[in-house]
Amino acid sequence: MKKTISVQTGGKLYLAGEYAVLTPGKTALIKNIPLYMTAQVSQATHLQLKSDMFDYAATMTADKGYALIQESVRTFAAFLDKKVEDLVPFELSISGKLEKNGKKLGIGSSGSVTVLTIKALATFFEITLSKDQLFKLASYTLLKMGDNGSMGDIACITYDDLIAYTSFDRDAISALLLEKSLTTLLDMDWGYEIVTLNPRLTADFLVGWTAQPALSSQMIKNLKNHISVSFLEETQKQVLYAKAALTKGDKDILKASLETVSDLLASLSPAIYTDKLLALKEASQDLDAIAKSSGAGGGDCGIALSFNPEDTATLKERWEKSGIEILYQESW
Ligand code: PMV
Ligand code: MG
Repeated sequence: MKKTISVQTGGKLYLAGEYAVLTPGKTALIKNIPLYMTAQVSQATHLQLKSDMFDYAATMTADKGYALIQESVRTFAAFLDKKVEDLVPFELSISGKLEKNGKKLGIGSSGSVTVLTIKALATFFEITLSKDQLFKLASYTLLKMGDNGSMGDIACITYDDLIAYTSFDRDAISALLLEKSLTTLLDMDWGYEIVTLNPRLTADFLVGWTAQPALSSQMIKNLKNHISVSFLEETQKQVLYAKAALTKGDKDILKASLETVSDLLASLSPAIYTDKLLALKEASQDLDAIAKSSGAGGGDCGIALSFNPEDTATLKERWEKSGIEILYQESW
């Protein structure tokens, strides 16, 4: 066991497939965002948990703020086939909350702390976890907590890469949580697929922040009954077009498919495209670029792909005029 270790996990943003991916077997394209949170673990006299999200520390005594971190610790102990109290005592300290002026950036997720905690403990206890194991352990933890997401965020954060994530049946796996041991569950095929993608296009990838925090879990609750079979089928078709276009370098198909998934999102509910997200999207009009809302919508972030430097500059100017902050930019 090392004295002090430090690990990081980044953020994520959806490119395509939002809401549809909540249905098992549907695919989303999700991009890693290299803005990182850090966890440090060191040996201590008693187990202690600290996070810069809160102005107090916790132990394993029930605490609302620390519940997800505590459940992640429990998952890790169960993975070692131990009780938490039988682990060598440690202090886990999490910092780098993804927010600005007290407002969340909307590029992480409440669930990402689960990946960070499990990754940190595995490093501290010198256990090598495959990406697949880390994804399953984090998903297991979130399912136990009643998370209603697709786990696409967890997949992207675990892989820290641009991925195509095809979701598994969370209800089916949740039903097995009480029946099966963690070891058995980890050995099972959950039926998801995670593929890393290498974009073969020259483009600027931009992240625009509305500074209007939105709660994905609430958006999912409000909108899940609006998801129709035709929405699912159309979205899946376009996501697969976009996936192929990314790796083949077909700009026109990529733009058209992302435009269509954006229209499909707009048709799902007017709650997705807030005024600011509409402005973010409309900023790409008449440019060689595509911009859309990312994730659950209702605030948070949007993304854009721009295919020449002049248009990137114009898009950024338009965003700034609409009060949209550029959080991150990278060149492909
Ligand atoms: O708002 P975000 O970035 O957390 O994305 C939510 C995406 C949804 O498809 C709406 C929900 C999910 O968990 O897949
Ligand atoms: Mg969001």
